[in-house]
Parts: sequence; C-alpha cells; structure tokens
Amino acid sequence: MSNDGVNAGRRRFLVAATSVVGAAGAAGAAVPFVGSWFPSAKAKAAGAPVKVNVSKIEPGQQIVAEWRGQPVFVLNRNAEILAALEAVEGQVADPQSQASEQPSYVDPKHRSIKPELLVVVGLCTHLGCAPSFRPEVAPADLGPDWKGGYFCPCHGSKYDLAGRVYKAQPAPLNLPVPPYSYESDDVIIIGVDQEKA
Ligand code: FES
Repeated sequence: MSNDGVNAGRRRFLVAATSVVGAAGAAGAAVPFVGSWFPSAKAKAAGAPVKVNVSKIEPGQQIVAEWRGQPVFVLNRNAEILAALEAVEGQVADPQSQASEQPSYVDPKHRSIKPELLVVVGLCTHLGCAPSFRPEVAPADLGPDWKGGYFCPCHGSKYDLAGRVYKAQPAPLNLPVPPYSYESDDVIIIGVDQEKA
C-alpha cells in the first residue's frame, strides 16, 4: 500500500485558515494560524464559533484551528486513512464512541459528518497534552503496526486517525468531536451544531 500522499501531507503541514464568525470581517483569505483570527477578549470568553475554510486541505493533510482556546485538528482523510480505520476497529477502546464526547449527528463509524473530514479537539484525554499528528505508516519510533494516528508525547497514548484511543493507554477516552456544521462545502463552523435533516 502506498503512503506517498500521507507523507506528502506531513511534509507540507499547513497552518490553519480560520476566522471568527462576525469578527474577522475581510480576513477571509488563507492566512497563518496565529494571525488568522481576531476575536475580542469578550468573544473569546464567550467561545465564539470559528469558521474554517477546508477547501485547500489536500487529502492526507491536516490543519489546526483554534476554538475556545483549544487546538482543533481538521484532517482531510484519504482512502488509505479511511481503510486503516477499519483495520484497527478491534484495537480501539471505544470504537463507537459510546463513552466519548461527540455530537449525535456525526456518523459514529467515521466520527464525522462527512467521512473524509475529521474535526477533533487536539487535547489528549489523559492530562491534556497536544497529541502529535503522525500519519505515516510503520515509522521506526512507533513500530511496524502503526497505521497512522495521533501520538501523545507526554505519556505515550495512541489514537487512530478518527481520534479513537487504542486499548490500554493512559488516555481513557477518544479525542472529543466538537459541535460543528457545514456553512458550505468549503467552510465549516466549529462551535455551531449541524442541523439535523
Ligand atoms: S497527557 Fe497524553 S498520555 Fe498523558
């Protein structure tokens, strides 16, 4: 199986193009993460929703948005990644996210509204470190069974690329899926629930 796309995605790690609803105004173009959103302190405290343009995220690539002061991973999953999710189904602790945080309107299999696009809060459910995005297959440091996922550097918790924690890890739960919705095919809004059809 080729993982060229995944490796390419890693090399070209993108910064997020985000804007806060009602606050960023004309800042709709792709701009680096840190300077891309301009919430007032008041908006920040209130946890204003954040718009993210997902149209430029290539398959296998991830960007990191910020919502309520937390990193939010937005990953465009390619066919290889989606296939790997099936392969590790029996190895994750909560495959259907029955104990883990995710909105009722996401598909439990992929933990997302659309299969390709994963949106998860990037904080380890053990003690809150930021897991690293490790999409490559079988890297030397993670071993031959690694099919791509998130690795927490603090105490070694491993998650797959749906944010599902593997069994017997320090982290007890899957990475939370925040409330989010599609404003259009290209734009998601983190912090605003998808209306049910
Ligand atoms: S904070 Fe991630 S494993 Fe402990």
